[in-house]
Amino acid sequence: MPYENPFYAEPEYRKVLATQFSSVTPENQLKWEFVHPEQDVYNFQEADDIVAFAKANKQEVRGHALFWHSQNPEWLENGDFTADELRAILKEHIYTVVGHYKGDLYQWDVTNEIFDGQGRLRMQENIWLRELGPGIIADAFRWAHEADPSAKLFLNDYGVEGINAKSTAYYELAKQLLADGVPLHGFSAQAHWDMRWGMPQDIEANFQRFDDLGLETAITELDVRFTLPPSGIPTQDQLERQSKYYTDTLQACLNVLGCKSFTVWGFNDTYSWVPVFFEGTGAATIMFEDYTAKPAYYDMLAMLKDATPGKSPRR
Ligand code: XIL
Repeated sequence: MPYENPFYAEPEYRKVLATQFSSVTPENQLKWEFVHPEQDVYNFQEADDIVAFAKANKQEVRGHALFWHSQNPEWLENGDFTADELRAILKEHIYTVVGHYKGDLYQWDVTNEIFDGQGRLRMQENIWLRELGPGIIADAFRWAHEADPSAKLFLNDYGVEGINAKSTAYYELAKQLLADGVPLHGFSAQAHWDMRWGMPQDIEANFQRFDDLGLETAITELDVRFTLPPSGIPTQDQLERQSKYYTDTLQACLNVLGCKSFTVWGFNDTYSWVPVFFEGTGAATIMFEDYTAKPAYYDMLAMLKDATPGKSPRR
């Protein structure tokens, strides 16, 4: 991880985590490179600690992620395995990891980021698609469902919040998987916004078409980055504009009945992937470094207080 894990070291982080949220997602701890660092080694300790913490605080946990082109261990990416071996490796991993948390995780991102911006499957970057072909997607869902029949299984990606080529590729894939009887239960959008660009106005319409297929929807990784002034301190105007991105995203989710899971990606600016990955930007979360709340926090809280899921009046 590019920054220290505050979960063990910072009491204030744990206090806010325990009291402000009803669902938590391990940000890295269930990714292949963390949970399966060597072919015959699984490391569940850090994710186990999060799950135990969540249970103690009556929170639900989302699992992220089982099938991705990124954050895979060396032994896997450079292993020179045959197709048969890879298939067995993926099956064993899914059975082992999903099985380890059977009954504990309410949702799993089975696949993450399998399409590119044009709505084409990432046939080269994704080792599973490259070596095993698109049919492996259905198998991954089947294996995850066998390992934990109670977990809701999701297709997750970024850039699929509104209606566009990429989200439409997901819509077509979802229809096909459902027609084939594959245990697919949800479609989710990460929602990593950048204030240099506006946000799509058709998130609700996009989610609704998946809802109409009988799928749940979710916002899984919401944050809102922008270019910081030279002082490094966001202006009031920036914070208010940021809040609108947060509340518009929340409103879209509230307006769709099956959108039952809504997650921010980090909750204070100290522990956010944004400044590490997008140079010059930051302040993307709902709390400052000292955990004081930003307008986005208060405005979402007010919206949640008034909300009737699936029936919220448009603002
Ligand atoms: C990021 C984490 O936040 C970082 O700590 C890590 O170094 C890289 O990954 N989409 C995803 C997440 O699905 O897993 C990514 O998380 C952010 C983009």
